Amino acid sequence: MELIESPAFSYKNNHLCCGNIPLRDIVKLTDTPVYIYNKQFFLDRYNEFKNAFKDLDNSIFFSIKSNFNISVIKTFLDLGCGADVNSQGEMYRALKAGANPDKLILSGVGKTKDEIKYGLEHDILMLKAESEEEILLINDIAGNMNKTARVGIRVNPNVDAQTHPYISTGLMENKFGLNTNEAIDLFRMGGRLKNIEFTAIDMHIGSQIISIEPFAEAIDRLSEVYFNLQKNGITLKHFDIGGGIGVSYKGEKIFSINEFASALIPKLKKLNCKILFEPGRFLTANGGILVSKVLFTKMNYDKNFIITDAAMNDLLRPSMYNAYHHIQPVDLSPEREDINADVVGPVCESGDFFAKDRIIPKMKREEYLAILSCGSYGMVMSSNYNGRRRPPEVLVDNNSFRTIRSRETYEHLIWDEK
Ligand SMILES: Cc1ncc(COP(=O)(O)O)c(C=O)c1O
Repeated sequence: MELIESPAFSYKNNHLCCGNIPLRDIVKLTDTPVYIYNKQFFLDRYNEFKNAFKDLDNSIFFSIKSNFNISVIKTFLDLGCGADVNSQGEMYRALKAGANPDKLILSGVGKTKDEIKYGLEHDILMLKAESEEEILLINDIAGNMNKTARVGIRVNPNVDAQTHPYISTGLMENKFGLNTNEAIDLFRMGGRLKNIEFTAIDMHIGSQIISIEPFAEAIDRLSEVYFNLQKNGITLKHFDIGGGIGVSYKGEKIFSINEFASALIPKLKKLNCKILFEPGRFLTANGGILVSKVLFTKMNYDKNFIITDAAMNDLLRPSMYNAYHHIQPVDLSPEREDINADVVGPVCESGDFFAKDRIIPKMKREEYLAILSCGSYGMVMSSNYNGRRRPPEVLVDNNSFRTIRSRETYEHLIWDEK
């Protein structure tokens, strides 16, 4: 089996390290399962993104739905990044991390009145709206608060992002956004809505998109709307292209951020307004791993199983999307032969797996394994299913590390039950 290494996670003396820190030093303190993040990876990825677009008037908003730990959010805020949030809970986290409200965007296809009010109370940069009813509600709530809401309309460009159907969001059949004609009508209605200022047109066509074409096509469709509005006297300040940039999960080559920028900058420059980006996965996915211990191994009929102490409640992506995560031993040994096995968790669901029919080095009880590319959509999707405590999170910063969230206690699990 091929081992995947990067500056963020590599083997030193046959032992997997996060930067310079041997994983054994971390698990000695935290036990397993545990999420481990490399701060330097986050800094490097952000700077790569920023440099790629340095010739364009733009702002970057970290999509915190991908990793909402306050210390991770703060890492990006400290670099001057804003935050894209999808709920009041995420906005609360971003504010706790120290986000400046004028660098906050509230997304979401179904916001409650309280969420809209919360956004307006904090005077955030923009609320995105995805239906006429939502626009009217924002106008009413802003009116009652004597405020003018800055609103962006999310357009569904009907473009196939060629990704997993569950994370494809820009097709006609998806619940997200408004079709181009309706969006134009609503932007035009803006003049009659006293408490709304339309500031942006927005798209987000999906996640883990591994080709540039769908982005280019969607930008073309939204640009038509943008120029149509401009011709009719409606000038928008922002053009928000969302997130969605794919990353490598198997060591495969994905387009680079510089290729992405070179392809899109000529289109975006024509717009003559500020471009907003909302990357999530690009910034965090390969900066995190989930480390787990082998509880048991067994052979059932002719099938090998490696049973780990992590489960689908800790990392849902394989169960939910059949997503691929590379798995490798924390300690290398020349004697290890490759076997074909399923790597599974202890939850009583057959869907509780991390790998199926995978060629993987043989591992024994008590050995540690690393599940790679878990910095995005990992901990944020965790749950207490099967009465399991959520795992801790550790942030490695050069030669030191700290726990940025502790393992839950059993008291956490029942804290308000009667
Ligand atoms: C509105 C919005 N913006 C940005 C993102 C971030 O996407 P990604 O993590 O694929 O970059 C998402 C995630 O689905 C989203 O829904």
